[in-house]
Amino acid sequence: MSGLTGQRKKEIIKRDSKVISPSSSRPYPLVVDRANGVIITDVEGRRYIDFAAGIAVMNIGYSNPDVLQAITMQMEKMSHCAFPDFFAEPPVKLAEKLRSLTGYERVFFCNSGTESVEAALKLVMWKTHRQALLGFYGAFHGRTLGSLSLTCSKIIQKEHFPSFQVVHTHYAYCYRCPLHLKYPDCGIECAKQIETVIFKQELSSKDIAAIVVEPILGEGGYIIPPQEFHREIRRICDDHNIMMIADEVQSGCYRTGTFMAMENFKVRADVVCMAKALGAGLPLGAMLSDGHIMDWPPGTHSNTFGGNLAASAGSLAALEFMEKEDLGNNARQVGSHIMKRLHKMQDDYPVIGDVRGLGLMIGVEIVKSDGSIDPKVRDRIVVEGFKKGIILLPCGDSVIRISPPLIITKEEADIGLDRFEEALKKVKSSD
Ligand SMILES: Cc1ncc(COP(=O)(O)O)c(C=O)c1O
Repeated sequence: MSGLTGQRKKEIIKRDSKVISPSSSRPYPLVVDRANGVIITDVEGRRYIDFAAGIAVMNIGYSNPDVLQAITMQMEKMSHCAFPDFFAEPPVKLAEKLRSLTGYERVFFCNSGTESVEAALKLVMWKTHRQALLGFYGAFHGRTLGSLSLTCSKIIQKEHFPSFQVVHTHYAYCYRCPLHLKYPDCGIECAKQIETVIFKQELSSKDIAAIVVEPILGEGGYIIPPQEFHREIRRICDDHNIMMIADEVQSGCYRTGTFMAMENFKVRADVVCMAKALGAGLPLGAMLSDGHIMDWPPGTHSNTFGGNLAASAGSLAALEFMEKEDLGNNARQVGSHIMKRLHKMQDDYPVIGDVRGLGLMIGVEIVKSDGSIDPKVRDRIVVEGFKKGIILLPCGDSVIRISPPLIITKEEADIGLDRFEEALKKVKSSD
């Protein structure tokens, strides 16, 4: 399977280049046509096994009949009603479901991850009357101006754009500790520096509305911190009367085994942002908190599409499907199978420097022989994978992310991993 040629594909890409904003970066020329389960078919009929799930969106897989039926039935009744202006049952049912899954009492609906972060920022600023924020190097929270202020992943995303008052500090990236320390002897120095350095020298804790953190660094390289990291952040927030916002946009909806990834760390944030898999393929975001925090009055924040009826109906069906099929458990089982195979590959392919993961949020860090990052080889592996029939996406400086739909079986995962290994072999042989 070459995957790089084909007239139909070429023609669409050429038309795309003339009319679509050039601000997106595509790693290889996949031109999709349709998809089912964990298989994507392109416009020329080539089939790919999907290890990306549309950036951790299609947790329930493609063309899920329950979700299709729920969306179609709702579309036939009414697709949109301006829920923020009127009342309707589908978003209420969805909010009730989210409440039962998370314990958070109230939900604000929006349409994307970045909007859920904007809503969270506005809520904490409104509640605390403070405007400064603390975030982390490597973080990705979106690209609208509030969330972009917190995003600290690639400079191209931020160059020439204005920012809120945000201080960034080190995330617990233990494989490449930014402080050159070793866990656990470090005592989570990275988190401790929030109090010992930032609050003393840079930004008063009294001015900070929230610490905003991803349970697992997503776009920043699928980095999984030790449990104590989030616990220490929680403690700092409690001690200094600062809100903790967990950005679960990528890690939520059972991707890591639990509904919210923060559950793995036994930490409860004050505010949670969700999107991606929540919409099961339709645009849907949600910001969750408790009633004593989300007590802003009518008019403080709203939008047109939040609580869209079709998206809400699809989301509820998707959440019910995730529960019924115990997709969290499947994420754990298949995730540990994939991790085992990747660890074995490490012996044969020294370019694999680190394999880390929680459930089906797995990162493979590609390195040079001296252990330094190797983005070029990472990109070549991703493109070779595409030629062999597997959809992979990069993240971080030198990481390949493995985030397939959570319905994936071990057998399907093995087919994907065989193709991934072929890609590694090809890149190794051409060096
Ligand atoms: C953790 C996190 N937060 C926020 C976002 C932004 O979401 P969206 O692209 O839907 O605006 C992303 C997107 O990748 C994300 O991974």
